[in-house]
Amino acid sequence: MRITIFGATGLLGQALMREWAEDEVTGLGSKDADIRNLLQVLDAVRRTRPERIVLAAAYTDVDGCETQPQLAFAVNRDGAVNVALAAKQHRSRLLFVSTDYVFDGIKTTPYEVQDERAPRSVYGRSKAEAEVRLREILPECCMVRTSWLFGTGGKCFPDTILKLAQSRPELQVVNDQRGSPTYATDLARAIIQLCRKNATGIVHATNRGDCTWFEFAQEIVQHAGLVTPVLPTTSDKFPRPAERPKYSVLSPQSLAAYGVTMPTWQNALERYLTARRGQG
Ligand SMILES: NC(=O)c1ccc[n+]([C@@H]2O[C@H](COP(=O)([O-])OP(=O)(O)OC[C@H]3O[C@@H](n4cnc5c(N)ncnc54)[C@H](OP(=O)(O)O)[C@@H]3O)[C@@H](O)[C@H]2O)c1
Repeated sequence: MRITIFGATGLLGQALMREWAEDEVTGLGSKDADIRNLLQVLDAVRRTRPERIVLAAAYTDVDGCETQPQLAFAVNRDGAVNVALAAKQHRSRLLFVSTDYVFDGIKTTPYEVQDERAPRSVYGRSKAEAEVRLREILPECCMVRTSWLFGTGGKCFPDTILKLAQSRPELQVVNDQRGSPTYATDLARAIIQLCRKNATGIVHATNRGDCTWFEFAQEIVQHAGLVTPVLPTTSDKFPRPAERPKYSVLSPQSLAAYGVTMPTWQNALERYLTARRGQG
């Protein structure tokens, strides 16, 4: 199979490039093709002639999206539309990576794929609008929503916590947002399986289990063998430009329907810490 990945230089994109064997994969960063530019996207797809496109490119700075909404919609919605138009023209299948932030977080049980979108942030709105537009352009498109991504090769929560735990006497971390941390390597493997199975429609893919950011931080510090105290706090003590959902656990049912299961987030964290140590 010939695959083209937009966003190959990002956290997930790098994991996809590492994990994807047996196929002919081309990875593109924003320098190779800016998805805001339809001509560049069409040209990239014409050159690489993919049977399958994975769209992992996005403007992922959730707070930055609040201050730069035009950029957020230009990349996350209109850029995704450009890729979908190119996929349609070249008859390529498309897998689009989306987010738990399309939900408002008022549920207290895991979000199912048919639950209504109600984003509270510009980032969430830009991705939610992309989902709607992509469905119109390519009804067979697969949209994989994930959450709380971490991995080697970029900024992520565990990396930040480890650095802070080594430089501060104690850490305060919010304990009122619950979700599922997801290791980029595990998500990449799930995406590859979904592509092999020609998955369509919305699929929720995260590591199994859930926690708050505080619980996640506690586990990170403990697993790394550090003794820095981690203290729980609340979001109102750390106001940020973008509102985050209080609860954004995604149900694994849609993924299980394709016979795919993902490891627990604690298991994923252990493998991440080993990989991070290996990077020196
Ligand atoms: N991070 C999370 O916690 C999280 C949670 C849920 C869902 N997601 C979704 O998962 C996907 C992957 O996220 P990630 O964390 O791996 O992202 P990331 O590390 O921030 O990487 C973003 C990628 O998008 C590319 N990109 C940005 N603007 C572009 C443009 N105008 N044209 C072409 N490419 C552009 C970047 O290319 P360059 O580096 O070459 O500029 C990079 O490859 C995204 O769709 C994101 O919305 C992420």
